[in-house]
Amino acid sequence: MRITDTSDTWWKNAVVYCLDVETFMDWNDDGVGDFAGLAQRLDHLQELGVTCLWLMPFYPTAEKDDGYDITDFYGVDPRLGHHGDVVEAIRTARDRGMRVIVDLVVNHTSDRHPWFRAARSSKDSPYRDYYVWRSDPPPDTSAEVVFPDQEDSIWELDERTCEYYLHRFYKHQPDLNVSNPAVRDEIAKVMGFWLELGLSGFRVDAVPFLLETAGIPQAEAARLPDPHAYLRDLRSFVGRRSGDGILLGEVNLPHEGQAEFFGGLAGDELTMQFDFIAMQKLYLSLARQDAAPLADALASRPPISPDCQWATFVRNHDELTLDKLSDDERDEVFTAFGPEESMQVYGRGLRRRLPPMVDGDPRRLRMIYSLLFSLPGTPVLFYGEEIGMGENLALDGRSAVRTPMQWTSARSGGFSRAAPSRLTAPVVEGPFSPEHVNVAVQRADPESMLAFMTRLVQRYRECPELGRAEFAVIDQPHRSVLAHRCTWGDGTLVAVHNLGPDACTVPLTLDGCDDEHRLVDLLQVGSTPLDRKGTASVALDGYGYRWLRVVGPASRRLV
Ligand code: GLC
Repeated sequence: MRITDTSDTWWKNAVVYCLDVETFMDWNDDGVGDFAGLAQRLDHLQELGVTCLWLMPFYPTAEKDDGYDITDFYGVDPRLGHHGDVVEAIRTARDRGMRVIVDLVVNHTSDRHPWFRAARSSKDSPYRDYYVWRSDPPPDTSAEVVFPDQEDSIWELDERTCEYYLHRFYKHQPDLNVSNPAVRDEIAKVMGFWLELGLSGFRVDAVPFLLETAGIPQAEAARLPDPHAYLRDLRSFVGRRSGDGILLGEVNLPHEGQAEFFGGLAGDELTMQFDFIAMQKLYLSLARQDAAPLADALASRPPISPDCQWATFVRNHDELTLDKLSDDERDEVFTAFGPEESMQVYGRGLRRRLPPMVDGDPRRLRMIYSLLFSLPGTPVLFYGEEIGMGENLALDGRSAVRTPMQWTSARSGGFSRAAPSRLTAPVVEGPFSPEHVNVAVQRADPESMLAFMTRLVQRYRECPELGRAEFAVIDQPHRSVLAHRCTWGDGTLVAVHNLGPDACTVPLTLDGCDDEHRLVDLLQVGSTPLDRKGTASVALDGYGYRWLRVVGPASRRLV
């Protein structure tokens, strides 16, 4: 293992944990989570083995899109704390070995942001050009809206100045005009400000929309800079201000399209991108109990620079989007995991968390997280996944999965001592309620989901191959099984996962190995011999999973 590589590119082996301060822990009893509460709960995250926190937007907001509608990029939502509390939380996290990244939401502002208020006050406002306007009535853009249940156009008429402004998301979120150099300067200043407080980078919201120039009138289009040159600028700006800073981008595009946002093989644009395609195909594989869709998705990843990385996940804070599956494939996933209309949203996604989708079956859940952590890339967890939290379908849309963290079996899951009616969001009810699913009880139980996740995270961190390796699927005869190997330097890890309920024995042949090698289990006790041809038989239970390190005579690994 090369020490310099692994510490400089810390993000390649990171365990990222996404949380919303508002729903994590309330320390001042007002029903809203806060930075003081987060600081109190950092030990839990350290024990889990998290190495990087991703904080969802905590800025002053009009509160119409869960904080993604920002009214001041430099501020802190007063319900959550102030700058001093943010700095304390960042500093405490770093002390516990965790870096912190935050959401950078600069595709748009809230319509209550002072820039937009000024922009719409008059066509001559110096802020007018901070946004994208058109004077002629727009064509039908109903197919382009992101939230089809709320919007039917990406243009909204501003009554006062009688022009239309562009909004890719809700009409209360006017898009910023990044072709305006003044806006680009503002964005850099915002990034510089937060980096100065000790952050290690950003999760960049809606990158393709941020860069798009589609809404900008033809006359101006000619003088627009290359959007990818702009992304390159942002990456080098972060590098100059913070040596270890990253840009983790939200780019839900087919793999070929994502290559561009890495800057191709030059690798000088986004540092990391979520692999939305592998995530969607994972659910298709799980629904079919057939590893092929996931294996094909991983094989279809474009080659990327060593300066870049994929981020893998099974759930995030939005709808679990299935938009890149065909209609038939999406229906298969809906049938398996969210058959009722109330479980679906926007006709393209699910509003459930994983545990209820598999009826809380611990075998399936553990197999799926074992698979997630064994995939090449950096795993990203959404708060509550470590204890198997469920959702609250009584809440609207995407809010179903944004309920308070469940710490104890006490009222409101120990999230807050305020009256339940004052909580920022109600807790989950039913079989996944805090009474049944909470951190305190699971901490005391060595067989719990939390104990399992903690072991898994620890093993992942001991296996740098997983974040850095050359990855290959190993041929074997079972449709429901994914067997793959990751090799980096002198280390090889083999992972075998059974997506189906029937036990099986998997014959594996490992090139370059012989009877001097053996496969040592990392998630259980045991080892399997290889024969002269490098072949082994690996037994898997229904929904079984094994991580196997290839150990040869010269190995110095601690296994
Ligand atoms: C991103 C966020 C989502 C938000 C949207 C608009 O897609 O993930 O939660 O609603 O941007 O800001």
